[in-house]
Amino acid sequence: MPALPRSEWYDLTRDMNWNVTYVEESEVWPEDLSHSLDIPAEAWWTWDEPYKITYPEYVHNQTGKDESVYAVNQVVSRSKLFDNLDPGWKAAILAHYGAIAVPEYTAGIGEARMARFGRAAAWRNMATYGTLDETRHGQIQTYFPHGLLAREPRADWAHKAMHTNEWGAIAARHLFDDMFTANDAVSMALQLTFTFETGFSNLQFLGMASDAMQVGDLDFSSLISSIQTDEARHAQQGEPTMKILLEHGKKDEAQKLIDHMFWRSWKIFALLTGASMDYYTPLEARSHSFGEFMNEFIIKQFTDQFRDFGLERPWYWESHFLKELEWYHHATHMGIYFWRPTVWWNPDAGVSPEERDWLEMKYPGWNDSFGKIWDVIGENARAGRIENTLPETLPMICNMCQIPLCNPGGYLMGKLESPEPFTHIHNGRKYSFCSEPYKWIFVQQPARFQGHLSFIDRFLAGMIQPPDLMGGLAYMGISPEEMGQDATNFEWAMPTPIKIKAS
Ligand SMILES: [Fe+2]
Ligand SMILES: [Fe+2]
Repeated sequence: MPALPRSEWYDLTRDMNWNVTYVEESEVWPEDLSHSLDIPAEAWWTWDEPYKITYPEYVHNQTGKDESVYAVNQVVSRSKLFDNLDPGWKAAILAHYGAIAVPEYTAGIGEARMARFGRAAAWRNMATYGTLDETRHGQIQTYFPHGLLAREPRADWAHKAMHTNEWGAIAARHLFDDMFTANDAVSMALQLTFTFETGFSNLQFLGMASDAMQVGDLDFSSLISSIQTDEARHAQQGEPTMKILLEHGKKDEAQKLIDHMFWRSWKIFALLTGASMDYYTPLEARSHSFGEFMNEFIIKQFTDQFRDFGLERPWYWESHFLKELEWYHHATHMGIYFWRPTVWWNPDAGVSPEERDWLEMKYPGWNDSFGKIWDVIGENARAGRIENTLPETLPMICNMCQIPLCNPGGYLMGKLESPEPFTHIHNGRKYSFCSEPYKWIFVQQPARFQGHLSFIDRFLAGMIQPPDLMGGLAYMGISPEEMGQDATNFEWAMPTPIKIKAS
């Protein structure tokens, strides 16, 4: 044990900054990887993390977390807990594993970049822990679903998804490459840790852990809570980085980075968490609607942070974000349900009569907009015309988020002036976007995004053969056994049996 109290040696060990003399600064911290913005080296040395931890403490804490989370998994995996879970909840966790497990590992690449190219030793120290955290998250979130394989073969999508060209996997890779694998240290601190983790995923994990507890899924709840405690620590790399940028007059750069990633985070969050909270989670286990969660947690947190730092809310806040909050996730949920053969989970329609009452209560007007479309799907299901509830073509896809365009939903709700995509011509190629902020993101950095081909671009380029839905599914790596189906076999659409009271 060290003879000195921690407070006397902590700063010395975590803050070993020095000026380089044998080489140029730009060789050690190239602008492309560090993005120092001409802020002098010694100014970066004031970077002060709000969460202090030493390596022995870190290892001690993490060992304890792993021991308890794996112990829960050991016990639960011998029980029938998974088999008895609600089918909608199974959809939520399978979707989660495929979209999140391997990206956690790639987030480790992002953390490692800050651990090498961050401009302060204290920051690099903290990012080293972040690298270890994300490696752990990748491991436990592939280990847990691996234990489910005998009961649910598609749990292998936890590992498989990101290695396929399934459309959601393409969307996730496009986002996560932009946010971390292809990002520089400063942008990462503001985009991955300040915007995505502090703003969205940390709160999402808190929400999901409590929903999992309500549902009775102890395994997933303990997994998610364990991850969240790491996220809450390493997400704190954003604030000290932001502080230095603002002290050196880089507010515009900081604002742009946040405006860019807030919009991207919102879209993926709405797609995954929106469907999970408002449609997949069983009614009796829902603590908040997605709209309430966004308002009470995400919006409040961001508004406070913007105010504290003297930043502005993103330029699209009122005009786009608050409007989309009313319709976007209902539209993506319906899209995923309709194109369910293209996903690795069984989407739960979540629109039984009681669920519709709940949706109408939480989102007044839902019955007159989305409800009407579900009426048609329900009618077809009751009449046994299942083919009419399934797609024959592929939808238009946005060249930024890679998510199908849901604009008709927004148009029907009176929230968009036109159902058409926002387009932009660059070097003779036409790009289509689901929303104006995406067009803005593209126009800011066309060289960063111009080469990517969306699923539909690949289809039109003849890369997907035969050029039909089945060819598309084969290209996505989805076998007929894996194709998503209605989670409850249309139970939601069937007439409720009349209960006859015994007299
Ligand atoms: Fe993580
Ligand atoms: Fe993280």
